Order: sequence, then structure tokens, then C-alpha cells
Amino acid sequence: MVFDFHRGRRLRRTPVMRDLVRETTLSPADLMMPYFVAENDDPDFKKPISSMPGQFQFSLKQLEMQVEEAVGNGLKSLILFGIPAEKDPEGTQAYAEDGIVQQAVRMIKGRWPALLVCTDVCLCEFTSHGHCGLIKDGNVLNDSTLELLARTALSHARAGADMVAPSDMMDGRVAAIRQRLEESGYEELPLMSYAVKYASAYYGPFREAAESAPQFGDRKTYQMDPGNAREGLREAAADVVEGADILMVKPAGPYQDIIRQVRDNFDLPVAAYQVSGEYSMIKAASQNGWVDEEAVVWESLIGLKRAGADLILTYFTEDVLKRMGNK
Ligand code: PBG
Ligand code: ZN
Repeated sequence: MVFDFHRGRRLRRTPVMRDLVRETTLSPADLMMPYFVAENDDPDFKKPISSMPGQFQFSLKQLEMQVEEAVGNGLKSLILFGIPAEKDPEGTQAYAEDGIVQQAVRMIKGRWPALLVCTDVCLCEFTSHGHCGLIKDGNVLNDSTLELLARTALSHARAGADMVAPSDMMDGRVAAIRQRLEESGYEELPLMSYAVKYASAYYGPFREAAESAPQFGDRKTYQMDPGNAREGLREAAADVVEGADILMVKPAGPYQDIIRQVRDNFDLPVAAYQVSGEYSMIKAASQNGWVDEEAVVWESLIGLKRAGADLILTYFTEDVLKRMGNK
């Protein structure tokens, strides 16, 4: 007798059985938490970001307290974004030795040497015009911006960062940063490239959080067109050649096909950035009682792993760690 009647339900009968056969899993080691650190002398400064419920701009002291709690819950890695006290057209605070990101890296690595501290390398939080590069006649200059990005990455390395992550989408930035690091004795510092980064409306809440909205125009001359997939593979290929160690796709949820293609076409680890707008939409719906936050967060993250992400940057990291610890 031939049993050609498919009974997929046999393996779904109990939680233990479902756990045994689950193809994709999520672990604390997969998650990287983004933090916003503001140059503010008030040690009590902890400003809620209204468009990202549960997220804040922190003073150094407040960041230290926040990280302390997160480490207690199992935090393994984080990525830092800085908000300087002063901005100028050249974004000088991005590469200042005592800039806010550099100070935060020193503080965190001093207290938690084993915590993986990654830095976002970009100028937009530090420029008065809010663009990710130098401006001339209303255009974002590519090649002269590279020098400033290389300086920024080197200053982060000197402060003790474990990994640098350029997010500007200038052409040739991975090569420029990699070369500067090699020349300066940081040949073993990993570089996670925001390789396939789209010009996305999902970054809206982040720009409030980081006070980095462009003061004119938009970022469509450097970030990618959402309609393009093959172009994303060209971007990824360029970054591999230039010396990237991890390839990131950003945003994550609406671009899972890109995550899968990058996974299938390259041997490097793939990171997915579940960006601010993805976070805020889930928060808003769950605060309205329209979706079950815990379940939707888990499903959104397991979806990214299933699509091929090896690691995920998500503002839900702290929440997920708390829940995992309690189980
Ligand atoms: C800086 C940067 C941005 C994000 C990460 N790095 C904003 C942008 O490109 O406008 C977005 C992160 C998020 O939305 O959570 N270039
Ligand atoms: Zn930027």
C-alpha cells in the first residue's frame, strides 16, 4: 500500500515536535541593538523619540545605564549613532577624536570589553545640511567625501570600535575606509557595509531620532531606487571587491528578496537592518491593540533569518532579549 496522502500536520502536533523540526531559529547572538547617543552635558538627559516609542537619545551616563541593563539581559552587540552638540557643513564632529561617538565607544569598551561595539560611519548626523557628504552647488560630492569617511572610521577604530559600518552610499567608500584602516594598523578591523541601501521612506522616524533629515532635496542621488534588485547585486559585488566583511541590506522587511539574492550570490555574512519605520509601524499597531507585539516582532525577525540574514539590526533587540531570558 502506498501512502501518498500528505499529512504535514503530523509534525505540528506539539510544541516540542514543532521546536524539533523548526528550520530557522533566532538567538541573542544574532541581534544588534542600535543606540542614539547625544552630546549633552546633563547626565540625566534621556529624551524619548516620539516617533519611536520606547527609544531614546541618551547622554553618555544614561547610555551607560541602559547598556548595563541590556548586558544583564544578554546583549552581545550594539551599533552607535551620534548626535553632536554642534553641526557644520563639513561634519567635523564625525571625525573629531573627542566626538560623541568616540567618547561613547571608549566608555562602553572600557566597561564591557567583550561587548561588540559597532559604529555607524556617516556624516549626515554631523552636517548642518543633513546630507551624507560634502555639498557643492547643491550636489553631494562623492570623492572628496571619501576622505572624511575614512577619517571618521579611523577615529572610531582608535576609540576602540570592534567594527565600522559605513552607511553613506558614496561610491568607493569601502575601499577608502579599508585602505585607511590598513595603513593605520587596523588591518584586522571588520567592516560591515551598508551595501544595498535603498532611498527609503522607512527611515523617517530615524531622522527625527538622529536629527539628520536633509535640509534640502533627498538622498535619491546616492541611496538606491526601491525598484532595483540587479543593481543591488552590483553594489554588493563592488563592496566585496573593495574589502567589506559583512554585507547589509536595508531596510529589511520590504526587501527580503534582496536579502535572499545577496545570500545566494555571495559568501559573506549578510546583515539585515530592520529600520526605524519598520519598528514604529509594529509599535503603533500593537499600541492600538491591533496586533500582538511579541508575536509580530518574532515573526518579522524569523522572516529575515529565513530570507537569509545571518544577523539583524533591530530596535526590538532589548525586548527580545528580555523575553528570551524569561523562557
Ligand atoms: C545614516 C543612517 C540612516 C539610517 C542608518 N544610518 C538614515 C538615512 O540614511 O537617512 C536609517 C536607520 C533607521 O531608519 O532605523 N546614513
Ligand atoms: Zn548618512
